[in-house]
Amino acid sequence: MWKMAFRGTSCVPILILPLLSSLCQSDDQLTDAKPLSAGDMLVSKGGDFALGFFSPNSSNTSLYLGIWYNSIPGRTVVWTANRDYPIAATSSPMLAITNNSDLVLSDSQGHTRWVVKSGITGVGVTAVLRSSGNFVLQSPNGTSIWQSFDYPTDTILPGMRIYLSKRARVVRRLIAWKGPIDPSTGDFSLGLDPKSNLQFVIWQGTMPYCRLSMLNNESVGSGIYQNTIFTEVVTGTGDGFYYKFLVYEGSPYSRLMLDYMGVFRFLIWNNRSSWATVTEHPASSCDLYASCGPFGYCDSMGTVATCRCLDGFEPAGLNFSSGCRRTKALKCGKPSHFVPLPRMKAPDKFLHVLNRSFDECTTDCSNNCSCTAYSYTNLSSNGAMADQSRCLLWTGELVDTGKYSNYDDNLYLRLANSPVRNNSKLVKIVVPTMACVLILACLLVGIFKYRASKRKKYGIHNGAMLGYLSSSNEIGGEHVDFPFVSFEDISTATNNFSDSKQIGSGGFGKVYKGILQGDNEVAIKRLSKGSGQGIQEFRNEIILIAKLQHKNLVRLLGCCIFGDERLLIYEYLPNKSLDAFLFDNMCLIGLHASK
Ligand SMILES: *[C@@H]1O[C@H](CO)[C@@H](O)[C@H](O)[C@H]1NC(C)=O
Ligand SMILES: *[C@@H]1O[C@H](CO)[C@@H](O)[C@H](O)[C@H]1NC(C)=O
Ligand SMILES: *[C@@H]1O[C@H](CO)[C@@H](O)[C@H](O)[C@H]1NC(C)=O
Ligand SMILES: *[C@@H]1O[C@H](CO)[C@@H](O)[C@H](O)[C@H]1NC(C)=O
Ligand SMILES: *[C@@H]1O[C@H](CO)[C@@H](O)[C@H](O)[C@H]1NC(C)=O
Ligand SMILES: *[C@@H]1O[C@H](CO)[C@@H](O)[C@H](O)[C@H]1NC(C)=O
Ligand SMILES: *[C@@H]1O[C@H](CO)[C@@H](O)[C@H](O)[C@H]1NC(C)=O
Ligand SMILES: *[C@@H]1O[C@H](CO)[C@@H](O)[C@H](O)[C@H]1NC(C)=O
Ligand SMILES: *[C@@H]1O[C@H](CO)[C@@H](O)[C@H](O)[C@H]1NC(C)=O
Ligand SMILES: *[C@@H]1O[C@H](CO)[C@@H](O)[C@H](O)[C@H]1NC(C)=O
Repeated sequence: MWKMAFRGTSCVPILILPLLSSLCQSDDQLTDAKPLSAGDMLVSKGGDFALGFFSPNSSNTSLYLGIWYNSIPGRTVVWTANRDYPIAATSSPMLAITNNSDLVLSDSQGHTRWVVKSGITGVGVTAVLRSSGNFVLQSPNGTSIWQSFDYPTDTILPGMRIYLSKRARVVRRLIAWKGPIDPSTGDFSLGLDPKSNLQFVIWQGTMPYCRLSMLNNESVGSGIYQNTIFTEVVTGTGDGFYYKFLVYEGSPYSRLMLDYMGVFRFLIWNNRSSWATVTEHPASSCDLYASCGPFGYCDSMGTVATCRCLDGFEPAGLNFSSGCRRTKALKCGKPSHFVPLPRMKAPDKFLHVLNRSFDECTTDCSNNCSCTAYSYTNLSSNGAMADQSRCLLWTGELVDTGKYSNYDDNLYLRLANSPVRNNSKLVKIVVPTMACVLILACLLVGIFKYRASKRKKYGIHNGAMLGYLSSSNEIGGEHVDFPFVSFEDISTATNNFSDSKQIGSGGFGKVYKGILQGDNEVAIKRLSKGSGQGIQEFRNEIILIAKLQHKNLVRLLGCCIFGDERLLIYEYLPNKSLDAFLFDNMCLIGLHASK
């Protein structure tokens, strides 16, 4: 408790009270001279995180070493050292740096429950709880020897770069607690799909529980929740993926967490004293792995997600447990065609074919009569190393697919051709009926789309792994950073977008001049809301401009997504004509037209 008491007070001069001053300086540090016992706490600088012993089950006094948020009510644990080896409170657990510079958790009987080998001999190794919530064992010169961020339990914190891999040696997964008050290794985990290396999967034991979106080798995505802008970065290594999410300094606490029920959530602490869920997976029971059966899909476009049959299929049973069957059988040698189904999540059990153009991918599937579907994704401007596209083929059943408003890909589904009938009687009845149905359907689709667009407008732009957008931050092998600027700052900088600040306008919006962060003159392009630009197109534009940046055109400094506002912040060059901006727009027209 003394540590708490000293936080925030000014340090006592060193020469007069050396003991007190050392206490005062080191409340985030563990040294060989000062082990941590039950009841003690390390508190990170700034006071956000605490490390100490906790017992989550009030009727069991066994203790776990963990890290939690220090300044919010309740105890939200973000990391546990000895999740499967609790120590009875009666046997006085202690965390210490031993005389071999190892970090050891042991009890009074001398049993070691958890250990980090430093591999260094000599004095001066310390362990520090950093303000990010990272517990670091460091050598005297400050080099990190071991860090808790490399060994996550069930939580990903901002700035934490976690490696999820299929390689047996470094099986890195998030592993959920066993129960709400039981931190031991639970059933649910989140990791990379070992079969494809292309997707994150929530597992229940060894069975897939919920599949998240396809991964690209290099991608950045972003989303916004209330005033918190979060950005995520996924980097492929061939063996696995690094995943990181970032928020602005000073943003409310946020974390990604796999709970004991297998739900992976992005959570933000709101000032109503609770954690608000921004995204969650599975989002509905229909989102569970293969829950709609073969050839069924989870339709998440409406308010309530429901199972449906793919086009050309009908329910095979009374419910979707047995999926759907073809209304017209597909036979090898008999004519067939492909129908594009938009906004589909790629089904599981695909064959990934490398280095294919769209036409080659189509041919691959149509030339093999056991191929039932294919999908194709342009991975845009990836680095020279990476594949430029992703051609996926399916043979046999299609399982675990779904339709989501934030997915972009088409699934091309093979269906048998309908025989051409020449029955005039049938034509007389069928044609008018069909026409009526068609008109009705058009109307419904129209209404639906209108509603969907309304919903989308105010919704949070999120993807399968929170704001995961399939995009690239690697252009021509160079890393591109897009700082986000708050809408408020932009609004202030432009006098609330006053006409006097406007320096140009075009079909894609207006350009304003403003001053940001003290005295930086910037040009701000506010994309017109009527342009219908979604987050995906906005992303494309950023990539496009980042490319232009290489040609020494106007430099993009940042961007802002706020509700349906899309803003781009450029370097302001007084000598440069507005053509520079207009040139961007011309490229954009090309881009939109090609979509
Ligand atoms: C809490 O601890 C008690 C005593 O060990 C045990 O019986 C109970 O099952 C525990 N509860 C949970 C939810 O783990
Ligand atoms: C408390 O829980 C731990 C771990 O589940 C168990 O080993 C221990 O026996 C329990 N203690 C009591 C007093 O029930
Ligand atoms: C470390 O301490 C243990 C006893 O706590 C002692 O037996 C051992 O010799 C020490 N090792 C070194 C290298 O000083
Ligand atoms: C810091 O110390 C470690 C071991 O004590 C050593 O391996 C490393 O090279 C040192 N780094 C620097 C920058 O001095
Ligand atoms: C949260 O706090 C902000 C100011 O910090 C305030 O504007 C807002 O109304 C608060 N929201 C709630 C739900 O209390
Ligand atoms: C679905 O139907 C099958 C038989 O067709 C039945 O065994 C199963 O219990 C049903 N499931 C639900 C959830 O109704
Ligand atoms: C990709 O295919 C093209 C021709 O289609 C070929 O020239 C190129 O070498 C292939 N690249 C790889 C990495 O296989
Ligand atoms: C068709 O695809 C299946 C599954 O990938 C494969 O086993 C089979 O050899 C292919 N047939 C032809 C003719 O390419
Ligand atoms: C992929 O990009 C190429 C041009 O680079 C374009 O011709 C093709 O239509 C695109 N395919 C899809 C599915 O977007
Ligand atoms: C992803 O990148 C790694 C390393 O750059 C490379 O080995 C791997 O083949 C790439 N994968 C794809 C699908 O592009």
